[in-house]
Amino acid sequence: MKVIHDLNEIHTQLEFARRDSKRIGLVPTMGALHDGHLSLVKRANDECDISVATIFVNPTQFGPNEDLTKYPRTLEKDLDHLRQAGCSFVFVPAADKIYAPNHSTYVEPPTVANRWEGEIRPGHFRGVATIVLKLFQLVPAHIAYFGRKDYQQLAVIRAMVDDLNIPMRIEACPTIREQDGLAMSSRNRYLSSEERKRALGLWHALCRVQELVNDGEDRVSTLNDAMQSKLKDASVDSVDYANVVDADTLEPLERFQGQGVAIIAARLGKTRLIDNLTLSQSSSNSNYDGCRDDAQGGAD
Ligand code: PAJ
Repeated sequence: MKVIHDLNEIHTQLEFARRDSKRIGLVPTMGALHDGHLSLVKRANDECDISVATIFVNPTQFGPNEDLTKYPRTLEKDLDHLRQAGCSFVFVPAADKIYAPNHSTYVEPPTVANRWEGEIRPGHFRGVATIVLKLFQLVPAHIAYFGRKDYQQLAVIRAMVDDLNIPMRIEACPTIREQDGLAMSSRNRYLSSEERKRALGLWHALCRVQELVNDGEDRVSTLNDAMQSKLKDASVDSVDYANVVDADTLEPLERFQGQGVAIIAARLGKTRLIDNLTLSQSSSNSNYDGCRDDAQGGAD
């Protein structure tokens, strides 16, 4: 595994590989890697000749009162994990090389960025779209892999790629969960053990919606109320949103008519978590394998 810090070097090495007809898969991350991230690398390895993970805690996607300075930085461990996962290249650029002092160009994010995370974290998707476009320029990959865990981010990146005619295929990968259903996240490590227990409320709320849909409920107001009530039962500290939305536009739905995704953002103490579940009309939702307290880990 090659670890590269220099912007020209990563580009040159991968241009050579491309000329050699190698398929290149890109996995952008902010580090603090867990099995969710590594599942993306494995997928890139399965589908491509060369996998490239990037580790960069992108300052422009953090708001002024967010956790940029305390965001976990675990580079040596991350490199060990990536080595074990069979990653070919790791690109770890320095912040001042990505954002030179006179840097002033940003991507205006697509409309799918406006609601939900976009509303609560102003400027977040501008920072995400900007860094992802920069990484696409620096790492000339064929396919970029993103997790469904960040559902709106995935939609923003897909729209940006379409709108700006970026020659990159975007692949969505399932959310990897802990044994009990909590979605893996670099931010889970902020949770106290008591908050960790309450955090399971997000998964339980998502599962409840799927159960209601299985029973034939199609009124989204009822589904949303059920999520709020599950989150209340779990004593999460606050709920930023809990809504069933259109799977493509992320606009609120009135009725569930075969497609939709339940999205949640909630806070436990100082930690803000997001999760989602793509809903299925049939009771055999492959995104969801039941929601018992001892639910098996897995993917959605
Ligand atoms: P980060 O939060 O490190 O996530 C990197 C990638 O891993 C994203 O595509 C995310 O959706 C995916 N991921 C995170 N948790 C996952 C899980 N439990 N299962 C499956 N995939 C998971 O998302 C970012 O970084 C940044 O915004 C980035 C795109 C790198 C731009 O800075």
